[in-house]
Amino acid sequence: MLFLIRPAYCKKSLIHTLYPTPNNFTLVYYCRPAIHCNSSEIMANIREVKHLPAEYYRDFLSTLAKERKPSPIRSLFPLEKTPGVISLLAGKPNASTFPFTSLSFSARSPTDPTQESTLTIDGAELEAGLQYGDTAGLKPLLDWIFGLQEVFHGRRRGEGWRISMGSGSQDLIYKAVNAMIDPGDSVLVESPVYAGVIPMFHSLHCDQIEVETDAHGIRASSLRSILEQWPTDKPKPKVLYTVPYGCNPTGASATLERRKEVLKLAREHNFIILEGKSSSGFLLVAVSSHTHTAPSPIFSPFSASVRCAFSQRVTNLLLYDPYFYLYYGKEPQYPSYFALELEEPEVGHVLRFDSLSKILSAGIRIGFASGPEALLNAIDQHTATSNLQTSSLTQAIVYRLLDSWGYDGFKTHTERVSEFYRQKRDVFENAMKKHLTGLAEWSSPEAGMFFWFKLLLSDDQGEGGDSETAIKTKAFEKGVLALPGTHFLPNGRATPYVRASFSLTGEEDVDRAVRRIREAILDARKESEGGGVGVNGNGTAH
Ligand SMILES: Cc1ncc(COP(=O)(O)O)c(C=O)c1O
Repeated sequence: MLFLIRPAYCKKSLIHTLYPTPNNFTLVYYCRPAIHCNSSEIMANIREVKHLPAEYYRDFLSTLAKERKPSPIRSLFPLEKTPGVISLLAGKPNASTFPFTSLSFSARSPTDPTQESTLTIDGAELEAGLQYGDTAGLKPLLDWIFGLQEVFHGRRRGEGWRISMGSGSQDLIYKAVNAMIDPGDSVLVESPVYAGVIPMFHSLHCDQIEVETDAHGIRASSLRSILEQWPTDKPKPKVLYTVPYGCNPTGASATLERRKEVLKLAREHNFIILEGKSSSGFLLVAVSSHTHTAPSPIFSPFSASVRCAFSQRVTNLLLYDPYFYLYYGKEPQYPSYFALELEEPEVGHVLRFDSLSKILSAGIRIGFASGPEALLNAIDQHTATSNLQTSSLTQAIVYRLLDSWGYDGFKTHTERVSEFYRQKRDVFENAMKKHLTGLAEWSSPEAGMFFWFKLLLSDDQGEGGDSETAIKTKAFEKGVLALPGTHFLPNGRATPYVRASFSLTGEEDVDRAVRRIREAILDARKESEGGGVGVNGNGTAH
């Protein structure tokens, strides 16, 4: 059978022709536009993508996921669209009783942020936004995101993977962990690791196996030796969690060679790579009272206040709002694991988590997971029994905005955001050079919002040292808040490292904050030297 598909995102310019074939091969014909393609052009776009079969993932599912029954109502939702069927299925409230009749918001143009345009959601679009919707997400947004994954990762629909939306990527990571990990399982986690996943593994009493990282990301050699020395009587880990660009907390991006080696190991040793949302966007050295993970709000495309004009029955409802996409390195950006896996004999070892938090708004809580259908089904079943779905309305808002931008507009916006954070990095690094030379060591991040730096707390520190007191107590007393590195180590040991975010702080406060960190280090050095002099001979900050 021949399928001719014109996805919504392609408008008229792209047409995909899919030939499903037996044995998990899909031939994809791709041309632009099809009616103008000659046969050699079509042949040039043919590719064969072999994907792992659904049965492969059975061994990857946790007991909880295997025992979960599909929601009797939600699993029948798709049937409501059968032509001629009258649905008496779901307890969907009648939209005519809802007070909202239209919603409009102003957004900055991605090409010229001084220009704003007003976008309106009404009619059927609003109705879908106000109603319960499909567990995996709102169809127009899912279609748009399928297109985005093709543009940025070369992955095409119909090749054994799909997408689910979540209330931020954190929601989806949590559900993925619960879908795959049983209590007591061993898991591979890059170390240091995003602090937000440690409690997930901890509460499942997991044996967190730390895979070493350095300034070039995850060390594939460390992963290889862990796997090759794995005891024969102990089940191998099912997952590896890693953040490949602008890692949180290290700011490091993994090199191409390492990515390829990790993928090869995933195939040889049968594990799934949880590709954490790239290009972080997050915490902060707060000079005063910020303690939250927060991207800089000036890069939300929404105007300072999103004006929701719920005309007629409710008026003037004001909503106030607050990373791959935050790469600003000099070298061209390496492909993601999700993209690179296309070079493997088959795809299906990568479950990727993206987030719109750092590029549209953190408060809007929209993230998405892309990966093997069997794993996404397990995640969706979790959603169907917990929060039912991601907010339809925020998905509708995000779709309206992204559809108005198109993929080019989206790319322009993300380039501008990454340039913003590159400048912030430079400001922070200049302050570090000025105040911390000889007192700390660091590598310059090429993506994201963090510096991960090692405090030189004594002359005989060697590989040891503990930043906890110097940062949590001394630095805080001097008026600066940052996060001691121990919070990013799965096994919580002492470390001389510290994470500082540069997303929000202005130049003057950056200077003040880093100077205060200097003073805290000097105090700690004095203590360890029994009251001796500091690095610069006078123990005072300059
Ligand atoms: C690596 C990583 N993953 C996930 C998240 C959570 O992101 P979201 O806002 O999409 O839930 C963060 C947040 O800072 C993060 O750094």
